[in-house]
Amino acid sequence: MTKRQILVTSALPYANGAIHLGHMVEHIQTDVWVRFQKMRGHECYYVCADDTHGTPIMLAAEKQGITPEQLIERVNTEHLADFSGFHIGYDNYYSTNSPENKAFSEQVYLALKANDKIASRTIEQLYDPEKNMFLPDRFVKGECPKCGAADQYGDNCEKCGATYSPTELKNPYSAVSGAKPVLKTSEHYFFRLGECTGFLQDWTGGSSLRGDGASQVHLQAESLNKMNEWIEGGLQDWDISRDAPYFGFEIPGAPGKYFYVWLDAPIGYMASFKNLCDRTGIDFDEWFKPDSKTEMYHFIGKDILYFHALFWPAMLHFAGYRAPTGVFAHGFLTVDGHKMSKSRGTFITAKSYLDCGLNPEWMRYYIAGKLNGRIEDIDLNLGDFVARVNSDVVGKFVNIASRAAGFISKRFGGQLAANLEDETRLLGNIAGEAENIAAAFEAREYAKALREVMAIADIVNGYVDANKPWELAKQEGQDARLHEVCSVLINAFRLLTIYLKPVLPKLAEGVEAFLDVAPLQWADIDQRLLGHTIKPYQHLMQRIDPVLVEKLIEANKQSMETQAPAAAANYEPLADTIKIDDFAKLDLRVGKVLACNFVEGSDKLLQFTVDLGFEQRNIFSGIRSAYQEPEKLVGRKVIVVANLAERKMRFGVSQGMIVCASGPEDNSGLFLLDADDGAEPGMRIG
Ligand code: MSP
Ligand code: ZN
Repeated sequence: MTKRQILVTSALPYANGAIHLGHMVEHIQTDVWVRFQKMRGHECYYVCADDTHGTPIMLAAEKQGITPEQLIERVNTEHLADFSGFHIGYDNYYSTNSPENKAFSEQVYLALKANDKIASRTIEQLYDPEKNMFLPDRFVKGECPKCGAADQYGDNCEKCGATYSPTELKNPYSAVSGAKPVLKTSEHYFFRLGECTGFLQDWTGGSSLRGDGASQVHLQAESLNKMNEWIEGGLQDWDISRDAPYFGFEIPGAPGKYFYVWLDAPIGYMASFKNLCDRTGIDFDEWFKPDSKTEMYHFIGKDILYFHALFWPAMLHFAGYRAPTGVFAHGFLTVDGHKMSKSRGTFITAKSYLDCGLNPEWMRYYIAGKLNGRIEDIDLNLGDFVARVNSDVVGKFVNIASRAAGFISKRFGGQLAANLEDETRLLGNIAGEAENIAAAFEAREYAKALREVMAIADIVNGYVDANKPWELAKQEGQDARLHEVCSVLINAFRLLTIYLKPVLPKLAEGVEAFLDVAPLQWADIDQRLLGHTIKPYQHLMQRIDPVLVEKLIEANKQSMETQAPAAAANYEPLADTIKIDDFAKLDLRVGKVLACNFVEGSDKLLQFTVDLGFEQRNIFSGIRSAYQEPEKLVGRKVIVVANLAERKMRFGVSQGMIVCASGPEDNSGLFLLDADDGAEPGMRIG
């Protein structure tokens, strides 16, 4: 077989949100394909990255009081943990905020410019005069110009479905500051997509040769139809610049102008691969030169087809690089027939799934069992999920090993029979399906591949029932037959493991350890284990306990409540916005409680002696109702308003205030705040 060279990507997740099962569909689909290609012996690399730039990420960081760099670094760690938790085997997971990406973005832009594919002109856009920034459509809200519904976004109305431009909104306001936006002009840069029409007509309807000589169409039929519609409608120039303040890369020769996030995001594929090349010695140019013999595939969701099937191939081509070999789009994940919903608890994050103790391979199997090569939405039916995985993976597959392995270790010292002449047919038939199943994986028809694998598992289980090893074991003189039957079963199990390994890599690892064999490759289908000694069988996979699925739904309802608590509880209204100078007027210090006592004659107060490091203070605090044992507070590091004017009280002078959390109701309680270990008395807070 010719060795192919294949570069594969999944879309780069935005760095301001958690990974959910919708993302996971895409990464599982990609990972299965990549693992399959690697098992076939091809040189295949899988790269991805976080998509880190743009206004939403800039504002999210600001809201959290951190820099965008801090935000994207934290999220990168979280994303990687989620993906590795689901055994997604990237060769590199990187960030678009990287030196490689900056260099490529600038270089692609300059090459397009030299090719006369960049234009500039002045446009008018809504501007937030308070925040001093231009507002992306999503950050302008107002009343729908068609139906009058309040609080609609600047690009479309969720009530009546109308689409419009943000300038058409009635009573518009900035979603960032609440200010009334004004129209302001600015110079923008455009990628002249219309100039690329001829190339795009050829590319979208065309195909390329794979490394093994087979032909690969660039787009799925459904995608091609869409692109033809768009191309026939006339391709508009694409606005690729944004004004400061913006988190991204500044455009060379245009101070204060930044590349729009969607320009540098796909270039992030190249940058992640370059980073891998530099670490491992792969020849980057060989893979990206215009006449490269290597293959490049992008797995994406249907919502971002326009970017990948039009902008991206045109950018690559007119900047002097190769274009993709294929763009593989998938549909959207729904849960129990509905769009994922936070209130129903079906907006399931990858982390919550793992934290609930659910095995990631259960989801890999279920999702793979629903995927095909077309752009269809796929539904996660939670009841079906439990039934399907338990019946297929545990009931049909794992069971084969557990039914045969005991006899092999107890009766035959762990050694398999030295020849299986009578049974070459069964194993031969199983192995004979290898190319069918491979073709299904290659075409991303995973549902079909798994149906075929389970049909084989049914046949093998039929063989168990026909030969009844548990009865052979009781009969005199049937040792050789028992040995043969169980050895056939172990061999059949090994062949099935090869077919399932792209989907269930961890389980396959467990099988390899149990069989005491090297990592299984596709070509191993032609070998049999004869006279080979295996290890004692240990349980390879549990069934799904439906209680875990209930727990999962609950967990996602709860996480929803912590994210958006306003609906659940009663809150005091937010105080007026202050400037940082207002905050600086407050001098908050860490104080250590040296003594704390009841106050005679008061049923509300406690008297504190607090060490502020540079001096000691006497402070009265009205928290007696919440702290009935004042001596227990001694030693705590509390937060003191240290520059509050002294106050004369009936019981003495109070020299400051100890801060406490409390709710709007009288009975919502009082809660002292503590400083973490390491904070010393006198440290300033801010
Ligand atoms: N950052 C862009 C992609 C840039 S690629 C150069 C983006 N990010 S995303 O986080 O919103 O989505 C990442 C991928 O997840 C996209 O391919 C998107 O289609 C996919 N999905 C997001 N929600 C999904 C479902 N509910 N179901 C299936 N895929 C989904 O777009
Ligand atoms: Zn409307």
